[in-house]
Amino acid sequence: MIKAQNISHSYDNDIALKNINFEIKKGEFVSIVGESGSGKSTLLSILSTLLNPTSGKVYFEDIDFKDIKDIDTFRQKNIGFVFQFHYLINYLTVKENIQIANENASKEEIEELLELLGIKNIIDKYPNEISGGQRQRAAIARALINNPKVIFADEPTGNLDSMNSQNVFEILKKLSEEGTTIIVATHDMSLASKIHRIVKVIDGQL
Ligand SMILES: Nc1ncnc2c1ncn2[C@@H]1O[C@H](COP(=O)(O)OP(=O)(O)OP(=O)(O)O)[C@@H](O)[C@H]1O
Ligand SMILES: [Mg+2]
Repeated sequence: MIKAQNISHSYDNDIALKNINFEIKKGEFVSIVGESGSGKSTLLSILSTLLNPTSGKVYFEDIDFKDIKDIDTFRQKNIGFVFQFHYLINYLTVKENIQIANENASKEEIEELLELLGIKNIIDKYPNEISGGQRQRAAIARALINNPKVIFADEPTGNLDSMNSQNVFEILKKLSEEGTTIIVATHDMSLASKIHRIVKVIDGQL
């Protein structure tokens, strides 16, 4: 589904990734692990169209990223993003935050999704009125509202306690079992070890 060919990336003179070759199959749940600064976020950004690699090619279902004309529409149709810091907008409710990703989403659709994530009761609350774990799940709901084919999550459990972290992972796992491709970068080996494919980045190499 996603194929990286000979990817290298440098920030100024700092080499972050070297000659990465990597393929992710549909429905796979892949976790990318490695020390701080090893290149996980850089790799995730490249695989998710957010960053152009210095060299190499990336394909999504055999389409070269470089040939995608309307990248915003492409992302909206195919990709869901979940970050460590959830980036919910503080002056919008959970429902409104989700509608930002899909303005046509009905209240019923949003409720159904929040129900799945166990947070239906917070639909009309503002981010500062709910817990960190609830915020993270709201951010996942926002990533899911467009039914993306792929979800990229960078440290999705980075600021959660172990129970909420497990919960978030269970949700991602369930989604992968339903056919969504999931790629997670994480420091948390105890969570990563539960995933069927682990890729380790060491000094910019796999
Ligand atoms: N925007 C940037 N500008 C310059 N250098 C960067 C930038 N982002 C990352 N780097 C450098 O690239 C290398 C890889 O960073 P990256 O953020 O990909 O690592 P990471 O594995 O995600 O680390 P962490 O676990 O701390 O999130 C590091 O040496 C880092 O300093
Ligand atoms: Mg990172």
